[in-house]
Amino acid sequence: MAEPGVAGWIAAPGGPLRGELAVPGDKSVSHRAIMLGAIAEGTTRVEGFLEGGDTRATAAIFARMGVRIEAPSDGVRLVHGVGLHGLRAPDGPLDCGNAGTAMRLLAGLLAGQRFDSVLVGDASLSKRPMRRVIEPLQAMGAVIGSNDGRAPLHIRGGQPLRGIDCTLPVASAQLKSALLLAGLYAQGETHVREPHPTRDYTERMLAAFGAPCAFVPGQAAVLGGFPLQARDVHVPADFSSAAFFIVAASVVPGSGLLLRRVGMNPRRTGLLHVLRAMGADIAEEHAGEQGGEPVADLRVRHAPLRGIAVPGEHVPDMIDEFPALFVAAACAEGTTEVSGAAELRVKESDRIATMAAGLRALGIAVDEAPDGARIHGGRLRGGAVDSHGDHRIAMAFAVAAQRAGGEVRIGDVANVATSFPGFDALARAAGFGLRAA
Ligand code: S3P
Repeated sequence: MAEPGVAGWIAAPGGPLRGELAVPGDKSVSHRAIMLGAIAEGTTRVEGFLEGGDTRATAAIFARMGVRIEAPSDGVRLVHGVGLHGLRAPDGPLDCGNAGTAMRLLAGLLAGQRFDSVLVGDASLSKRPMRRVIEPLQAMGAVIGSNDGRAPLHIRGGQPLRGIDCTLPVASAQLKSALLLAGLYAQGETHVREPHPTRDYTERMLAAFGAPCAFVPGQAAVLGGFPLQARDVHVPADFSSAAFFIVAASVVPGSGLLLRRVGMNPRRTGLLHVLRAMGADIAEEHAGEQGGEPVADLRVRHAPLRGIAVPGEHVPDMIDEFPALFVAAACAEGTTEVSGAAELRVKESDRIATMAAGLRALGIAVDEAPDGARIHGGRLRGGAVDSHGDHRIAMAFAVAAQRAGGEVRIGDVANVATSFPGFDALARAAGFGLRAA
């Protein structure tokens, strides 16, 4: 974990990346396992739980609402469910920290409770758009106040919710999930349609917990009023965490890395299609299933990359991987063009702006567009970059530094522990040049 108090990293080429490694559990699945476990009947055992700041914030929130959650060992949680209507009023605001997934999904879940609640977050989360989730929840009958469409969210309890049939304006698994969770408490059916299919963990887990939930890519529906039954959850390794090592091994000459048992949900693996189209050498071995999710070992070898226009159809399936992709593009020959990705501007930071600024500081030409960028591959040099407190930006520049001509100073890295505790130690073990600043 980036030790508390470590403000930054100094990263520089460490040589070829070699060996085998396993990245921590999936963030999206870990959040949902705690949430559904908490409102189910019985005890849910979660294995492979991500011990990150974001997912621990979710667990702490349910503990404050009377859910007993045991942590018998690292990566394991026993969630003693209290049933659909068993949550207790918290004694103060509920802190989501840096976690957009926690805040948006909880907005839906808490809209259906009998008690009032307040959701707060850190400075980054307090700037992120919440109207997109508030408005469709209001259409279901929820009463939610906000700071001009941003956190804190004040959720009024005791409101009767009704199911709606709703087409979302943006492809967002967080919005879809918020509506489905509110739908558990609504009268009738809640039907959500998406402009492009997004990760389907909520609907898969709802069905596994016995909820009347039907789904096909791009659509999901749930019937309200039915109890959930506890079920063990095996969390796969997070593809988004693996992505940094996939790109690093692809761009550092002489590398050969084996990433063990990576979650391969097709709604998450858009980066593989794009990197392969750029010339990457990524083999899938021992493809199988873990807890109902596809997993595989990924063997990644260095290969020369060339720039491409990223096909729009892959954008939602790699929405968290653009910081890593921008680094691959910087190391590729020619220009890589990203478009249709305006959502990047409202992530933990404005990821188009923060990546463009950081790459330029390292000597790479980037033309920004409102919904993407053109990255002109070139020679990376040393320099100083600011992650703006965004975990994925910090890790992306640690990867970029492995191809730089000098040391790269990366500021504001503490939030790496929100999604990838232990990244720095794992990266060093794989051969990264990386130390605390
Ligand atoms: C997530 C959905 C995505 C993603 C985030 C996790 C989820 O956000 O970026 O890291 O767990 O549902 P959006 O729904 O805003 O696209």
